[in-house]
Amino acid sequence: MKIAVVGTGYVGLVTGACLADIGHYVTCVDIDAQKIERLKKGMIPIFEPGLDHVVLSNVKAGRLNFTTSLPSVLGDAEVAIIAVGTPSREDGYADMQYVYAVADEIGRNIKKYTVVVDKSTVPVGTGREVENIIKKYYSDEFAVVSCPEFLREGSAVADFSNPDRIVIGARDDRSAQVMLDLFKPVKGEKVVTTVESAELIKYASNAFLATKISFINEIAQICERTNADIEEVAYGLGLDNRVGPKFLHAGIGWGGSCFPKDVRALDHIAGNYGYDFRLLKSVIEVNNNQRTSFVDKVVAQLNGVSGKRLAVLGLAFKGNTDDVRDSAALDIITMLQEKGAVISAFDYEATENAKKSLGDIPVEYAKDPYEAMQGADALIIATEWSEFRNLDWKKVKETLKAPVIFDGRNLLKPSRMREEFGFTYTSIGRS
Ligand SMILES: NC(=O)c1ccc[n+]([C@@H]2O[C@H](COP(=O)([O-])OP(=O)(O)OC[C@H]3O[C@@H](n4cnc5c(N)ncnc54)[C@H](O)[C@@H]3O)[C@@H](O)[C@H]2O)c1
Repeated sequence: MKIAVVGTGYVGLVTGACLADIGHYVTCVDIDAQKIERLKKGMIPIFEPGLDHVVLSNVKAGRLNFTTSLPSVLGDAEVAIIAVGTPSREDGYADMQYVYAVADEIGRNIKKYTVVVDKSTVPVGTGREVENIIKKYYSDEFAVVSCPEFLREGSAVADFSNPDRIVIGARDDRSAQVMLDLFKPVKGEKVVTTVESAELIKYASNAFLATKISFINEIAQICERTNADIEEVAYGLGLDNRVGPKFLHAGIGWGGSCFPKDVRALDHIAGNYGYDFRLLKSVIEVNNNQRTSFVDKVVAQLNGVSGKRLAVLGLAFKGNTDDVRDSAALDIITMLQEKGAVISAFDYEATENAKKSLGDIPVEYAKDPYEAMQGADALIIATEWSEFRNLDWKKVKETLKAPVIFDGRNLLKPSRMREEFGFTYTSIGRS
C-alpha cells in the first residue's frame, strides 16, 4: 500500500518506518525542513532504540522516503496518517491547530478515495471535525478513521510489531478493511469501534495508567508514615490478577509527552460535556505533590539546599529516551535551583533537549555520572535509566562530598546502599 505519514516525531517516524518495514511504500512528511533534510541524509532526529536500523534499511530498500510537500504525495497515497503534535493549551485542552492544519491541507489536495487516519491523540469529536474540514474542499468519497497510538517511547519499535491491540475507529466497512489490510502482518488484537470510541479509548488508557501510578504513590505516602514498605505492598497487590503488577512503581510521579497533557485534556473534555471528572483532578494533584514532597524531603534532610551542590542523575522523563517533555527531573531541578541549590546534572541521551527546555536556569551539564557528582553534597536519582543501578558505588562514595543519596525512582536496594556502602539513603515509600 502507498502511505503518507504527516509528522515525523516520535509517533510519525516510528509508524512510518515500521509500516515500510512490513512492506508498505511510505513517505513521511514534515513541515520542519531541517528535520527532513537530516532524515534524507540518514540522520535520525530522536533517540529511540532500534529506530535507526529500521529507517536506514527501509530507505535503502526504496520503501521509505521523506518530503516537506504533502500535496506531492497525496495523489498516490491510499492512506494518509496524521501524526502531528496535540500539546496542551494553557487551559488544559488539546491544542488542535496542527491536526486541523493538516486536515485543511489534505482537503485542498486530496484527489481520490483516501483513508485519512487520526493517529495523533485527539479529543472525542475530532474525527467528525476533520471530515468537515476536508468536505469544505472535496465532495467525492473519502473516509476518516481514528487509529490511536499506544507505543511507549524507549521501546516504540518493538511495540509496533508486538502491540497489545490495534484500535480502529471507522464509520464504514470499506475504511475499516483498508486499516485491517494495512496492519495485516502485525500481531495483536484488532479492535474495530466507532470513531468516537477509538478517540476515547486512547484518553481512557492514559488516564487509567496515570491513575494507577498516582494510586501507588498515595500508598507510598502511607508506607512512609507506617513503616510498611511500598515494594512489598506493590508486589502483594500486583499478584492479584485483577490488578496486575505493571504501573505500580512508586516514585516522583509520571511525566512525559503524553500522560500530563492527555490527563488534563480528558478532564477538560469531560468538563465540556458538563461532567466533573473529580478522580482525574486528584490524580493530577497527587502527581504534582509527589514532585514537591520529594523536594521537601531533600530540603529537610539537608537542612536547606541554599549554596549546596546537588548532583542530579537523569533529565529525561523516563529511561531510554531523550524526551524531556514534562519531565519530573526538570521540575525538581527547577524547584531546587529556586531554593538556592547549585545543580550539576547528567543524562545518557536527554542533555541537549534539557538545555533547550531549562533555558536560562543555570545547570552544569556533566559528561558522565561521576563528573556530575564531583564534590556534591548529595546525589539525586531522577530518571530510571537502568545504567544508574550499576554505577561503581565505591567510586560514587569517594566522589561525592557527602555520602547522601535521594533515589526518586526506587532504583536501588536500600539495605545494599546503607549496609554495604554506608550511604544515607532515602527513597519513596521504603523504610
Ligand atoms: N510520543 C509518544 O510517546 C506518543 C505515544 C502515543 C501517542 N502520541 C500522540 O501522537 C501525536 C504525535 O506525538 P509526537 O510525540 O510524535 O509529536 P512530536 O512533537 O514529536 O512530532 C510532531 C511532528 O509533527 C510535525 N508537524 C507539525 N505540524 C505539521 C504539519 N502541518 N505538517 C507536517 N508536519 C507537521 C512537527 O514538525 C513534528 O516533527 C500526539 O498527539 C501525541 O499525543 C505520542
